[in-house]
Parts: sequence; structure tokens; C-alpha cells
Amino acid sequence: MSIVSIDAALLRDVGTRTLQTKRLTLRPFRYADAQAMYENWACKRAVTEYVTWQPHQRVEETEALLDHWVSLYDNPHTYRWAIERQSDQRLIGSIDVVRFDSALSAAEMGYCSDPSTWGQGLMTEAFVAVIDYLFNTVRIRRIHARHDIRNPASGRVMAKAGMRFEGVLSASFADKDGYLRDMAHYVILREDYKKTYKEMTMSNIISGKELSKTIRQEVKEDVAKLLEQTGRVPHLVVILVGDDPASLSYVTAKEKACVKAGMKSTLLRKDESITEEALLALIQSLNDDPDVHGILVQLPLPNHIDENLVIETIKQEKDVDGFHPLNVAAVHLGLPGILPATPKGIMTMLHSTNTEIKGKNALVIGRSNIVGKPVAMLLLKEHATVTIAHSRTVNLKELALQADILVAAVGRANMVTPDMIKEGAILIDVGVNRVDGKLVGDIDFEGAKEKASFITPVPGGVGPMTIASLLQNTVECFKMIETK
Ligand SMILES: NC(=O)c1ccc[n+]([C@@H]2O[C@H](COP(=O)([O-])OP(=O)(O)OC[C@H]3O[C@@H](n4cnc5c(N)ncnc54)[C@H](OP(=O)(O)O)[C@@H]3O)[C@@H](O)[C@H]2O)c1
Repeated sequence: MSIVSIDAALLRDVGTRTLQTKRLTLRPFRYADAQAMYENWACKRAVTEYVTWQPHQRVEETEALLDHWVSLYDNPHTYRWAIERQSDQRLIGSIDVVRFDSALSAAEMGYCSDPSTWGQGLMTEAFVAVIDYLFNTVRIRRIHARHDIRNPASGRVMAKAGMRFEGVLSASFADKDGYLRDMAHYVILREDYKKTYKEMTMSNIISGKELSKTIRQEVKEDVAKLLEQTGRVPHLVVILVGDDPASLSYVTAKEKACVKAGMKSTLLRKDESITEEALLALIQSLNDDPDVHGILVQLPLPNHIDENLVIETIKQEKDVDGFHPLNVAAVHLGLPGILPATPKGIMTMLHSTNTEIKGKNALVIGRSNIVGKPVAMLLLKEHATVTIAHSRTVNLKELALQADILVAAVGRANMVTPDMIKEGAILIDVGVNRVDGKLVGDIDFEGAKEKASFITPVPGGVGPMTIASLLQNTVECFKMIETK
């Protein structure tokens, strides 16, 4: 193994550097920080570890733990930062390089965080800052991290920071009661970090493009399993009436996505002059066809056809769009059913932030049947305090400023301006608007992203998630029909 030379002066002051991220300041850790953490936090056990790390100061709690921590930390190459949230100077945790092997050009990281701030992506941000510093300034080549296997939240932080799960280290850690615990081992190499650097530094952007790729891959694997088990794959039939170019491009995208996921897809194109009767008869025949698992009629339909009647005619268990009154009722009653694709994608994006929805103030702007209302119901089901705004709402700014989660589904370019956004809010932009030939959302993205803890872009946000959710729905319909 080649020995990489590391700038000795840089190495010496690794832990004395202050690092700045978007929402955090990482400054050298002081013993007073350990005391503050101990006094303020709910997570006393973890903090006890920090306190006992200072060997002669406060050891009454855990003699055994002390021995362990001294052995782990009695190392001149251990550096620790205190993490302060910039908005209120709150100490939210500490992050450290617990071993530093200059010969191998490798470091090992660990962290401790205040439970009351979990789920906001703050630890990921701190992790990325230290990884970035170690790779790009100190120029080391490999970083390891380990955590108790029973703490999946830590694993999520590491994975989000771009670290790769390497395996389980069996019984590698003795806790304070002497029980041996397994540790999960994570690694990131400098060359891999470069690849994901852009993604990580833009960590408050929820990329629907990336998230939908993951979902589509999962659907593909699911379809392969179904084929193995049943000898069949889900089959989606899309009906397009007329030749509206926007509708044609939507259905083409849906078809392609189906085929890529290993499903069968059929596009039935009908002339604009098709009668309502003929269209209903076609749907009926597809309802009865055991080879069809999902039926989607692309909206809008010509004026002479009653859209509601068409939606009601599709069999509930083949209604991949989730527009059938029984599926709509299921959403409102909080019962299982097929969720409409866009709201389902929105909830998946919210869940991807690992933020607890329960108790949050959510504002949904827009009350359409396909987006606003169902999103509001799904947020309510997860115990958010939900407000729905619409064109007659008089105090939109006031409501928006209270929103921890804001979903804009209006169709008016940049109508949500930065002065309407609560610091740290999660912003989901459903709107699709064309301004000077460019697609923009309902939220002023550039200004808003500075205040948001998470934000979805347009394009590349909710749009790709809608198609991914449609694929999930088709698989769900298949399972419902085939297991009946
Ligand atoms: N990316 C995707 O997959 C996807 C999917 C669906 C929709 N979209 C986009 O999302 C947007 C909304 O779609 P939609 O079908 O829900 O639209 P919609 O049926 O036209 O509903 C728009 C809603 O916005 C409200 N509104 C209008 N002006 C307002 C204002 N000044 N302040 C507050 N609320 C206002 C309306 O209120 P009233 O009810 O009082 O009229 C209505 O409830 C569109 O841009 C659409 O293209 C995107």
C-alpha cells in the first residue's frame, strides 16, 4: 500500500478549523459543550459517553464505559467539532474524526446528536461538511464510520451523506452494561465522493428525478418477482382520445416507463369523434379482460364525453389513477385504496426527507380533486395540522409563514415568494408553468431554496414522481387482481 503524504500542518489543525455549511457552524468542541449537551438533551446516555471521554471530570456514571472510551479516544489523532445551528445558535450535536491513520490515508468518523433535531437532515449536512473537508482540504482517501446496528437513523445519515454500507462487524462494541453489540460499517472513498458531490452539496433539494429512479428500479425488481411467481406481468392500458400533443407526450412517457420496468403497456388511440357510448363500451371490455390490470384514460376528454361517467366506469381495482369515487372515498376515510399518482409521489418525497409529519403545520395551496384535496387528506392521515388555501383565501402570506410543510398546486408561476416562507420549511412545488419558454413552478425556487430545509425543483421534482407512482399503482392493481 502506498503511503500518501499529507500536509503535516493541515493535519495538526484538522480539529481546530471552523467549518461553515448552509445551516450549521462546526467549531472546535469544548468541554463546556459536553456539559451543555448533558444538561439540555433528552439523550443523556449518549452524552454521558461524551462527558466520560474527558477522563477525570465526570466519571461517576459509568466507570466501565469510561475505560472503553478512553481506549477509543486516547489517540492524538482524534478531532471533534461542536455543531451549532446558525438560526438560533443551538448546539445540536458533535461530530468527530475518532481515528486518523495518516499512513493509510484513512479516517473514521462518529457523531452524537440531539434527538429533538433529528429528521431535519442536519446531521447529514454536518457529515457532508466533514467528509468534504477531509477529502478536499486534508486530501485523505478513505473515510469509515460505524454505528450500532440497532440504530437505523444513523445508517440513514451515513447513506444520505454518500457512505456505502460495508457489512456488519460482529460484536465489536461492548456497551456500558458489558453486552456485546454488532456494528454496521460504512465507507466512502474519495473517488466515489467526487461523483456524488454535487448531489450532496445540494442536499436540501429533493430530486424527484433521482428518487423516481430508485422507485422505478424497485418496481422493476417487483415485476421480475411477480413474473417468476405467476408467469405474468402487470399490463397497463392507456386510452388517448384525440391528438392533443401534451397528452400524447404524457402517455408516451407513461408507456416507456412501463416497458422499462418490465411491464406490458398498450396505448389505444381513439379519434376525437368517438362517442361516449363507444368509449364506455371499450372500458367495459377492458374491465372484463383478465389480461388487463390497469386502465388509464388520459384527461381531458372532448366536451361531448362526461369525464365523471368515464372514471366511474373503470373498475375500482383497475383504476391506476386513483380517480374512481371509491378510491377517492378511501383516501378521505383513511382506508386502503389506490392513491392518485401525484399526491402519492408527493408523500413519497416528504417521507424521503425523514422528517416527522405528525404535529407539523401543513399548508396546501390549491383544492383540485387530483392534487390539492387528496394531498391535504394524506397529510391529515399522518397527523399534520392541515390548512387548504384557494383563490378566495385572503391571508395567504400569513398562513404560509406558519407552514412547516407547504405544497403549492396552483399553476401560477412563482406565486410563492421567499417573504412568504417560514425558515426551515419543506416546500413541495407541484405547479408547472411555462415562462419565456422555460418550465417553472409555483414557488420562486432560487429565493425559496435559501430558506427551505427541503425543496422540490421544477422540472425534475414532482413530475417524475407522478410516473413512478403510477407504476407502483399498476403493480398494486395486479397484486389485488391476481391474489383475489
Ligand atoms: N407535476 C405533476 O405531475 C402535476 C400533476 C398535476 C398537476 N400539476 C400542476 O399543478 C398545478 C395545479 O394543478 P391542478 O390540476 O391541481 O389545478 P387546478 O385544478 O387548476 O386547481 C388550481 C387551484 O389553485 C387555486 N388557485 C388559483 N389561484 C389562486 C391564488 N391566487 N391563490 C391561491 N389559490 C389559487 C384554485 O382555487 P379555486 O379552487 O378557488 O379556483 C384551485 O383550487 C398546475 O400547474 C398543474 O399543471 C402537476
